[in-house]
Amino acid sequence: MGPAAVLGLFDSADALLHAIPKVREGKLGRLETYTPYPIHGLDEALQLRRSPLAGMVVVMAFLGAIVALAMQGWMSAVDYPVITGGKAPFSWQAFVPIMFELMVLFATFTAGLGMLFLLNRLPFFGHPVLSSRAIRGITRDRFALSVEAEGGSLDPEAATALLSAAGAKDIEVLSLPARAEILDSAFILRALGGIVVACVVAGGLMFAAIKLFPVLPPMSHMQEQAKLNPYKPSTFFKDGHGMQYPVPGTVARGYLPMGPRTPEEANGLVNPLPRTRENLERGREAYTNRCAVCHGPLGDGVPTLTAAYNAKPANFVSEEFRKAPDGRYYWAIVMGKNAMPSQAADMPEEDRWAAIHYVRVLQRAQNAKDSDLEETKP
Ligand code: HEC
Repeated sequence: MGPAAVLGLFDSADALLHAIPKVREGKLGRLETYTPYPIHGLDEALQLRRSPLAGMVVVMAFLGAIVALAMQGWMSAVDYPVITGGKAPFSWQAFVPIMFELMVLFATFTAGLGMLFLLNRLPFFGHPVLSSRAIRGITRDRFALSVEAEGGSLDPEAATALLSAAGAKDIEVLSLPARAEILDSAFILRALGGIVVACVVAGGLMFAAIKLFPVLPPMSHMQEQAKLNPYKPSTFFKDGHGMQYPVPGTVARGYLPMGPRTPEEANGLVNPLPRTRENLERGREAYTNRCAVCHGPLGDGVPTLTAAYNAKPANFVSEEFRKAPDGRYYWAIVMGKNAMPSQAADMPEEDRWAAIHYVRVLQRAQNAKDSDLEETKP
């Protein structure tokens, strides 16, 4: 292997800066400097091109955004179109967060990996200057200028002459160290060992953070406070139970007890809901959800579940129930009757009355008179 670089040392940054143009004229190879600290004007003197990294990052960032747009567009408009929130399947506005994230992801990976592998030439650690005698000087008080082979070979004599003419001392001819095989078994073992150790350490820390941290004060104060657990005994109440019934007579918000005390009294109740289209729609929903299983979708007492019940649900279309007052329905909803359980516990007041309105609709629909067809004047 031929010489890879010729390196000369200078005593001061000034000497180095002055030498660069002279050596560059020889056009023998790529110029590189090694200095103990950053020196102003070096970039210009070396005529370094701007790093292509910024451009690469911009391109990849756009690519990331486009990939995210295409991916989400395909998923939500082509492969599995589901209308969400009334949006059109391809709504780019909804894709923006993921587009942003993929943009950042692509950009950071390009910046990091591009710098390390493309521009810094990892995983090659064999730069010739690392094996030079001068390496110690240039990390302390010496300034080095090297002419490095660019692709082809380097003429060491010409480079040496040029460097010494420019005032360099201690000129060294460096050859490229043999490229070490990096994927040997020792390296793989070391890498795997490192990964295992990292996993164990990270796992241990995670375990400590999740298991130990919450039980250390003050995190533990929530658990240790005086409190009642459901189904646990308690010495606080006389009966020794932790869970208690509500105080007798407790009334839930929106569930006022019924005024009438007897079915006869209830018969006097009048439906307080106006018979509007809105209330009838509400009644249809309430009836369908709560009553239709037993009384049938038409209210004729022929239900979907007749066989399962050893009882005959009332037939609302019958003469008796067409004539029955609203209060009788209301009483049945609140009190239940024999096989019919009370519906009051989770049926809001207005749903009850709306359901009764709807029962009236069902009755009229199945006993229509000719006059019902006439246009009704408001
Ligand atoms: C679990 C089934 C079931 C559900 C749900 C149910 N009922 Fe009933 N209902 C019955 C049965 C059974 C009867 C007959 C009771 C009897 O006379 O022994 C009945 C009777 C009635 C009566 C007649 C009561 C009387 O005075 O004779 C009315 C009115 C009534 N139900 C209204 C309703 C309304 C309104 C709903 C919906 C909010 C409803 N029911 C939900 C099973 C049910």
